[in-house]
Amino acid sequence: MAMADGKGKLERYNSYIRKMNSSKALAASSKLLFRASILIALFLVFFLTLTSYPTEVRRRLSSTSSFGAASARWGGPLWEKQVRHSSTPRRPNGFSVLVTGAAGFVGSHSSLALKKRGDGVLGLDNFNDYYDPSLKRARQALLAKQSIFIVDGDINNAYLLAKLFDVVPFSHVLHLAAQAGVRYALQNPSSYVHSNVAGLVSLFEASRQASPQPAIVWASSSSVYGLNEKAPFSEVDRTDRPASLYAATKKSGEAIAHAYNHIYGLSLTALRFFTVYGPWGRPDMAYFSFTKDILQGKAITIFERADGQDVARDFTYIDDIVRGCIGALDTAQRSTGSGGRKRGPAQLRVYNLGNTSPVTVKGLVGILEGLLGLTAKKNVVRMPGNGDVPFTHANVSSSVRDFGYRPTTDLATGLRKFVKWYVNYYGIKITKGDAASSSSSSRYSS
Ligand SMILES: *[C@@H]1O[C@H](CO)[C@@H](O)[C@H](O)[C@H]1NC(C)=O
Repeated sequence: MAMADGKGKLERYNSYIRKMNSSKALAASSKLLFRASILIALFLVFFLTLTSYPTEVRRRLSSTSSFGAASARWGGPLWEKQVRHSSTPRRPNGFSVLVTGAAGFVGSHSSLALKKRGDGVLGLDNFNDYYDPSLKRARQALLAKQSIFIVDGDINNAYLLAKLFDVVPFSHVLHLAAQAGVRYALQNPSSYVHSNVAGLVSLFEASRQASPQPAIVWASSSSVYGLNEKAPFSEVDRTDRPASLYAATKKSGEAIAHAYNHIYGLSLTALRFFTVYGPWGRPDMAYFSFTKDILQGKAITIFERADGQDVARDFTYIDDIVRGCIGALDTAQRSTGSGGRKRGPAQLRVYNLGNTSPVTVKGLVGILEGLLGLTAKKNVVRMPGNGDVPFTHANVSSSVRDFGYRPTTDLATGLRKFVKWYVNYYGIKITKGDAASSSSSSRYSS
């Protein structure tokens, strides 16, 4: 029994050892397998990323811009569903419009107006931090309430654009994405080339390859008139003396548009905007920062011309600009190309969109002082020759002729609406100014 017992123990022991060894071997081999598969997976991910998004990866690695497209996220079935839903028109013969820069000032207003009349609108925006991105996110939320989806991506991303045109047969593109501002070019010149030249070409490339080719309406600028002295500015006047890199890139855009129209039959309309202002505007613009500084009791800097004359701008209210954009879209003819090739001559247009009544910057400040009930601390200095032009004044007779453009909002009326929005958005109480009554009444009405 003892022997049997001992033999039994030994056998159990041996089988135990065998089991231990085999399970150890199994554990060891499965560990090895696990590590190997992780390595293989990592290699695959790395390889696939590199091969399917080479420019995107290279751009991220080599980006010199302080605000690249690093946060861009897109793709997947849910994303595609949102893209389709947002761009589907709700009226008979409605447009399907891709709006670039949709979280921007003019982009958000135009998107809402198009959606309101039943067009399908898909936004595209990279939400860069040239100015406070939270304002762009707030505009995005406003658009989301009207079921407008904004794709978080960059116009320089050719894969993204190809994908969008693959998913949606856009009838129109309203291209408003750009690097704006005049003096910022002194700090970040490459951002202007990146957005306004490379980005424009990227968008035109995707559009000419798309089937059907969309008609494109895009934002040029009154700054292309540069140092012109003849007023009002007409589309046929010379535009070869830009005073800023911003103006130079917009002028380049007009030349590039000519080439894409000529080679590929893209229908292209450039709109030269004149100092657009209003609710949800851009914080980098003078009327906006003046409002902020006057409310905070900070001194504002007002430029004066070398000849002692006042600097003046043809300030144009956002609603007038939006009507101009829609007029241009409504009268845009189809592109004539297909399969990336031209089949016949296509429409090529340039229009001024201004207010046709310039106001001096001192006049602007006077209106703001009245609305805010405060006196601005003014610091008047000679205008430096680093981007700003002395005055702008639009001749809009061709926009009137071709799509009935008619600006209806004067600066005082438009600024009142802006100030009302400003104090509500930033939660500021004003008690003294002309805008005080309208801001408190809106508190109860909303
Ligand atoms: C405005 O431009 C048109 C051409 O588009 C021209 O015929 C007209 O004379 C211009 N008006 C002024 C006031 O310069």
